[in-house]
Amino acid sequence: MTKYVEEETWQDDDRRWLAYRAGALHIEDVRLGAVAAAIPTPFYCYSAGAIRSAYRTLSRALTPIDVAICYAVKANSNIAVLRLLAELGCGMDIVSGGELERALAADVPASRIIFSGVGKTRAEIARAIEVGIHQINVESAAEISVVAEVARALGKRAPVALRVNPDVDAKTHAKITTATKDSKFGIAIGQVADLYAQVAAAPDLEAVGVAVHIGSQIHDMEPFRRAFSAMAELVTEMRGRGLSVPRLDLGGGIGIASGDKPGPDIGRYAAIIAETVGHLGCKLAVEPGRWLVGRAGLLVSELLYLKDMQDGCMGILDAGMNDLMRTALYDAHHPVLPLQEPQLNDAACTYSLVGPICESSDKFGRYDGLGELRAGELLAFDLAGAYGASMSSTYNSRDLLAEVLVDGDRFRTIRRRQGIQEMLQLEHGGAWERPAPGGGVMGEPVLHGGTKGTGRELADAEQ
Ligand code: LLP
Repeated sequence: MTKYVEEETWQDDDRRWLAYRAGALHIEDVRLGAVAAAIPTPFYCYSAGAIRSAYRTLSRALTPIDVAICYAVKANSNIAVLRLLAELGCGMDIVSGGELERALAADVPASRIIFSGVGKTRAEIARAIEVGIHQINVESAAEISVVAEVARALGKRAPVALRVNPDVDAKTHAKITTATKDSKFGIAIGQVADLYAQVAAAPDLEAVGVAVHIGSQIHDMEPFRRAFSAMAELVTEMRGRGLSVPRLDLGGGIGIASGDKPGPDIGRYAAIIAETVGHLGCKLAVEPGRWLVGRAGLLVSELLYLKDMQDGCMGILDAGMNDLMRTALYDAHHPVLPLQEPQLNDAACTYSLVGPICESSDKFGRYDGLGELRAGELLAFDLAGAYGASMSSTYNSRDLLAEVLVDGDRFRTIRRRQGIQEMLQLEHGGAWERPAPGGGVMGEPVLHGGTKGTGRELADAEQ
C-alpha cells in the first residue's frame, strides 16, 4: 500500500493525507476505523501533516513580503495543535484570557501573541500586559482608557494597535461578516486617526499600529483588496499627521473549499497584500485560523438509526449540533465520508443526516453518494478541523467529545472525552451567600472575568 508522504506545501486543495486504501478511510497512515475501535464516537481526528503542510504553504506564499503569521487560536484551540504550529514558528492571535493561557501552555512566546477581541476584561488585559504581550488590538475609545489605566497600575507600557472598521462587506455568511458599518467590531475608520493620536500621546501606552479583520470563510478576494487598500490610505493619512504606524495587522478570514466552491488561491491573497500594503514599510501580520486547520480535521460519528421518511431516508447519528455547530449556525455543508468506501448502486438513497439533540436545527443536511448505509456504520464529517471542537458544548448533558491527532502511522488522544461525572462535580458544593450590607458580596473576591478594579488589585488579590 502506498504510504503517505507529507507534502512540503499544498497545491491548492490537495488532500493526499486523506484517502481510501483497500476500501478503508485513512488519515495519513492510520486507518480511521482503528482509531474508532479505541475511542468512542463521536470524536474529532486531525492530521498533523496536513496542518504542517498548510502552514508551510501559507508561510512560503507570504515570505517574500515578510508577513508574520499569527494563528487564530479560536479556530482550534487544542494545545497539541497550538504546539504543532508554534514549533513551525507560528505566532498566535487570541481573544480571551483562556486562549492566552493556552498559547502560553503551548510554549508560544508572549512576544508572538496578539490579543484581539471586542470585550476584554481588566483581568485579561492585566495578565496580557504582565506576560509581555506583543500587541493588544483595541476596539473602542473606552477600551483605550481601560488599557491605559491597567498599564499604569502595573507600572508598564501597553503596546496598543487600533482595530479599524473599514466598512467593507466580506461577501460571506452574515453571521461571520465583521467589518460593515453596523458591526460591533472595530473603530469606524473616520475616527481612527484622532484616537490613535491619543494613544500615541498617552504615557502608559505605546501606539504600535492598526489592525483589520473583515470576516471569515471569505472566497471572493476583492473585499480583502478593498479593506487593505483602505488601510493603506489610512496609514498614509496618519503618517501625514506625524503619527508613527510601525505595524499593520491584516486579520484572518481566508476561506477553504466548501461544497461546490473551491478554496481561494493563496498566491492571489499574497499578491493582494503585496499590491495594497507592501509599499508602506509596516511590519505586517495576518491572523488565519480556518485556512491552517479547517481541512485537517474530521468528525467521526456512528450511525445509530435509519428511519424511512416521505422524501427519502433519514440517518440519526451519535454526533449532534453540540459537537459540530456549524450547520445549525451558519448553514455550513460538511461533506461526509463513510469509513468504509461506499459501493455505489442505483438503490442507494439520498440521506438526510441528523443528530440526537432535541432541536429541529440539529441536522447536517442531505447527502448523496454514501452508498447504502447500515446502522452501526461509521461516518466522518470532512472539513471539520476549524470551529468544530472549539465550538463544541455539553448541551443536552452530552459528553464533551475527544480529540485525536494522527502523525504518520501513529495517533494520540489530545483531549480526552469529558463525561457527565466530571460535569456533575462542577455543580456540587456552591455555598449559599448573603449580599453584604451596602453592596458587594461576602466571600471570595472575583478574580477572573470581573469588571471591577484595576489589574494591580486583581493581581494582589490573587496572592
Ligand atoms: N482574527 C480575528 C480578529 C477574528 O475574529 C477571527 C475569526 C480570525 C482572525 C480568524 O478568522 P479565520 O481565518 O478563521 O476565518 N465560527 C465561525 C467562524 C468565526 C470566526 C470568528 N473570527 C465558523 O465556524 O465559520
